[in-house]
Order: sequence, then C-alpha cells, then structure tokens
Amino acid sequence: MASTLFTDCWCSSSSSSATANRFVPFHKFEDGLLRSRHIRFATTTNPCRLRIDASASAAAAASGSPSAAVAAETTAKIIDGKSIAKQIKDEIAAEISRMKDAIGVVPGLAVVLVGDRKDSATYVRNKKKSCELVGINSYEVHLPEDSTEQEVLKYISGFNDDPAVHGILVQLPLPAHMNEQNILNAVHIEKDVDGFHPVNIGRLAMRGREPLFVPCTPKGCIELLHRYGVDIKGKRAVVIGRSNIVGMPAALLLQREDATVSVVHSRTKNPEDIAREADIMISAVGQPNMVRGNWIKPGAVVIDVGINPVEDTNSPRGYRLVGDVCYEEACKIASAVTPVPGGVGPMTIAMLLSNTLASAKRMHNFK
Ligand code: GUN
Repeated sequence: MASTLFTDCWCSSSSSSATANRFVPFHKFEDGLLRSRHIRFATTTNPCRLRIDASASAAAAASGSPSAAVAAETTAKIIDGKSIAKQIKDEIAAEISRMKDAIGVVPGLAVVLVGDRKDSATYVRNKKKSCELVGINSYEVHLPEDSTEQEVLKYISGFNDDPAVHGILVQLPLPAHMNEQNILNAVHIEKDVDGFHPVNIGRLAMRGREPLFVPCTPKGCIELLHRYGVDIKGKRAVVIGRSNIVGMPAALLLQREDATVSVVHSRTKNPEDIAREADIMISAVGQPNMVRGNWIKPGAVVIDVGINPVEDTNSPRGYRLVGDVCYEEACKIASAVTPVPGGVGPMTIAMLLSNTLASAKRMHNFK
C-alpha cells in the first residue's frame, strides 16, 4: 500500500525520524509501487535502534504486570504475508479453474490508469501479472494525464456494461484536476472490487448490512490475523491512521469482528498511551519507525501497513524499506509482528484477486 496515500499527515510532530529529500532512481517496491525520483528518506541513523532496551523496559513498566519483564525478553512470531499471499493465490487459481470447467466463465478485472505516474504504472503492471498467474482476464485502459473526467467516466460506463468484466479498479491517485469522488461513485457497486464506493463503505460501517466488497489492504490485514489464529473478538484494538484506503476501513472491519477499537490519528493526544492498551495494532500512517516499542502492549499482535524508504548507505540502492513500526523493538515486545517488506504488502493484490473471483461467482451464482 502506498504510504503516499495515507492522507492523514503526521509529518514532523509525531515522527521520531528526521527526513531528507533525496534523488533516487525509480524503484519497484514490494507493493508493486514504483516510488518516484524524490523520495523522502529518514536520515541515516535509525533512532529506534538506539533505544531498544529503554522502550522495552518502559513498556514492561507501563503494563505493571509481573509477566511484562518476561515479555520484553521474548521474540515475536513473524507473520509471513508473502507465503500467506502465495497460498491464497494458489487457492484462487484452483477455484478459477473449477469455475471455468463447470460453467465456462473466467473472471475479468478492468483497470483504469490515468496519467504517467511510474509508481501507478508499476502497480497496474503487477496486478496484471498476478491476474495472469491465477487465470483472471485483465483489461486495461491507460489514458493521458490531461484526459477529462468525462473520458474516464465513459470507460467506466463501458466496463459497467461489459459482462466479461467482473471487477473495475480505478488506480489512485487520479490527476489533481479530476474529482475522485465522482469517478469512484461511477463504478457499479457490484463491480467495485476496491470496495471504495460509498455504498460499500457505508454498508461496512452499518450493523446488519453487508458490503459487496471490502477494501483490499485492510481485508489483507484481517486475513493475516485469521490465518495466524489471532482471536479478535472482545480484544482491544488500535488503528493508527485514518485514511479512506486503510485506517478507516481497518477500524470498521475490526469492529465487525467484535474488537473494541480506538483510532489514533495526527491530532490524538498521547497516542502511545492509547496504543499501549491494545492487544491488536494496525498501523497505516506512512511514517518510518514512528511507532516505538513503548507504544506496544507486551504480547500484542502488530500489523504494520507502512512501507517507507529510509536512507541506508550499506544498501547498494542507498536506501531500504521500513514500516511505521520500529521492527527491532516490536520483536522484543509483541507476540507477533508483520515484517516490512514481506508482511501486508503482498496481501493487497491477493485480496484484489479474491474480490474479483468473488464477484464473478456472485454474478454467475456459482457456489
Ligand atoms: N493506489 C495505491 N493503492 C491503491 C489501491 O489499493 N487501490 C487503488 N485503486 N489505487 C491504489
């Protein structure tokens, strides 16, 4: 997931990392996004490294539990998103072949890309590759940056009417002159595999209603919790960040799973105090190493959605990717944690494929 799309800016006030603009060649990140030339790096010194012991004991002291000191010594289980995503893709491929054999239908995904952002182009290319891998037909429209909203709407309307297309995805961000809301609203809710249509989000928020689709990244976070046998019901959860794409739907999903959910955002006072009460943490803010060990309750499960480049002179690329959570500290305090890369990133496309398959099955009433 693109940290640039986590729109709730924490910027300098909450971040523990100093940042600097650097020129780097385009690079393909784990989520398929190609970050552009000027990447905002955290500076060379990784501040979270320097304070591992201090934060572990702070967390232990804060919990007041005799087991806390022991927890501070433990090493968390690593939640392997890459292998879970692979497993899910294999399951999807098997289902697609079963459906094709039984009723002759192959799921189709249409992607609309507007403009020349290299990161978006790479993301779309990766979606296309994953579609091919599992046997989904993909359709792509690539429009120039200066296209009109009307032109985009015309293609969406065509895909809405095309029976070979079971899912439509409009790659975000759109060029600034376009109204994102108008465009996302135009996608038929039965083909809204991104789950961004307000009717799908509204249903997600309401008790007793079912969305047709759930946004892919938060769905991937919950899937990881399920597949690792993490109990959600009755647990305290914290979501750090409130973006439309991740934070907000992640909080709604956790609540649907009967967790008691707090949302911490850029205006929250003492976010670490709220975070430290949570048994489950999902962080999606796009700030490298912002979440320190003393934000984490000993034994909590930590899902890190952030994928942030930080300067690393030891790396041939000059940088490496880190999450929102200080991984080294989290490993000593949490019971389980997602790595970056290799955690949530690979799950996003797996969930998109899953939504597309579900859509085709629903349209053809295939069980
Ligand atoms: N751009 C970055 N992430 C996403 C995503 O999950 N969906 C869409 N449509 N665009 C994106």
